[in-house]
Amino acid sequence: MNCSAVILAAGKGVRMRSELPKVLHRVAGKPIVLYIVEAVKAAGIEQITLVVGHGREQVEKTLSGLHLEFAVQAEQLGTGHALMQAENHIDPADTLLVLAGDTPLLRQEILTQIIDFHVREQAAATVLTCEFAHPHGYGRVIRESDGSFARIVEQKDASPQEQLVKEINSGIYCFQAGEAFAALKGLKAGNAQGEYYLTDVLEILKRDGKKVLPLLLEAEEDIYGINDRVQLAYAEKIMRQRKNRSLMQGGVTLIDPDSTFVDNEVEIGPDTIILPNTMIEGRTVIGSGCQIGPNTRINDSRLGNDVIVESSRIKEAVVGDKCSIGPFAYLRPEADLAAGVKVGDFVEIKKSQIGEGSKIPHLSYVGDAVIGKAVNVGAGTITCNYDGKKKSPTILEDGVFIGSNTNLVAPVTIGRNSITGAGSTISRDVPPDTLAVERADQKHLKRRK
Ligand code: UD1
Ligand code: CA
Repeated sequence: MNCSAVILAAGKGVRMRSELPKVLHRVAGKPIVLYIVEAVKAAGIEQITLVVGHGREQVEKTLSGLHLEFAVQAEQLGTGHALMQAENHIDPADTLLVLAGDTPLLRQEILTQIIDFHVREQAAATVLTCEFAHPHGYGRVIRESDGSFARIVEQKDASPQEQLVKEINSGIYCFQAGEAFAALKGLKAGNAQGEYYLTDVLEILKRDGKKVLPLLLEAEEDIYGINDRVQLAYAEKIMRQRKNRSLMQGGVTLIDPDSTFVDNEVEIGPDTIILPNTMIEGRTVIGSGCQIGPNTRINDSRLGNDVIVESSRIKEAVVGDKCSIGPFAYLRPEADLAAGVKVGDFVEIKKSQIGEGSKIPHLSYVGDAVIGKAVNVGAGTITCNYDGKKKSPTILEDGVFIGSNTNLVAPVTIGRNSITGAGSTISRDVPPDTLAVERADQKHLKRRK
């Protein structure tokens, strides 16, 4: 038995009131539709077709490289019409999983359950259903008096009696593919929304004497669809709780999970402690034994083991083992710190390599620099890397000691083990083992009374 999947993601998502297609809005840092793709893949399905329409270029771009196929629904005429567009991509002999692209909390376990059930029962169609205390807005599952499936009626088409039904259509289905595409040809749009409803396919199959089964599961979170920003915020909250739980189960201490925001893709090693008010985003990887926070934001960065970061911002940077960052440091893109580096308070580092054991403890700007090992950069040192037109490099060789409040006018190189006097503006290269001082002599004048 081969299994393929179609994800319906052509809709506008009007209620998001957004320029961005709904399925590309992010939950815990990851586009909504990507969660669905990953859940489908985790269920062992390789052949995945996305029905795209609204904002299709953006959707296809976001999902490129994932070996997905795309079918275009130029006009959004309903969920049944959307599935029709995928017909050429699907082998009629397949078991076909159909689902929406707007349910980021969906887990693989649920998909495996419906597929296993559908295959075991050899049904023509299976629909995953749930019982909701507040079913408003969902399609209702109407059963015959013997409990078997009769049909699904949409909220807008439901009679007052049908609106009392608590069993709802999750929007997740399994079909025998050939049967589904044959039945789709009989769809009509004679309903309140004038759309071709995928849900009507079940009724058509049933009428043709085919086996149509509802599978009632507890999957309230899994089928939670995002239609507006309030629902987006709710999904965000649940997803972050899941991420935090999995981090803690993996050996990470979160002092206050409620004020710890970790994106879905982030990896953190065991025995790392995350203090409150901390955001860790994007493709960040943090080693073990670190202490991060409080009040810290890190994105798309790589931190080694035993790193300490306090009240700092780290963006697209690399931090080696046993480094100490902050409080109040700012590591910008391409800051690359070797092991044991100290970056202290009010220090900004951009596009610079800092060698092993070097220290920039206070009040400095370091940009476009290559700093060797065991270098000490005194308080208030600035690399003057920009002349208004271009950026130039500063090179501090191993063992250099930069006196406090030095201006390093780039391009400039300070040779091995050299020293600059405090307050100097260094604009020419300094050879190794040299003391460079650039300072007017101090004068003492008599004070007038
Ligand atoms: C649908 C079901 C409803 C179910 C609910 C579960 C139908 C008719 N109704 O309603 O019974 O309870 O899901 O959440 O199927 N889409 C397209 N092209 C279209 C229309 C929709 O690709 O022309 C996509 C959307 O992008 C979305 C998905 O299909 O990802 C579901 O569409 P939506 O309009 O949200 O359906 P609901 O009204 O929620
Ligand atoms: Ca929906």
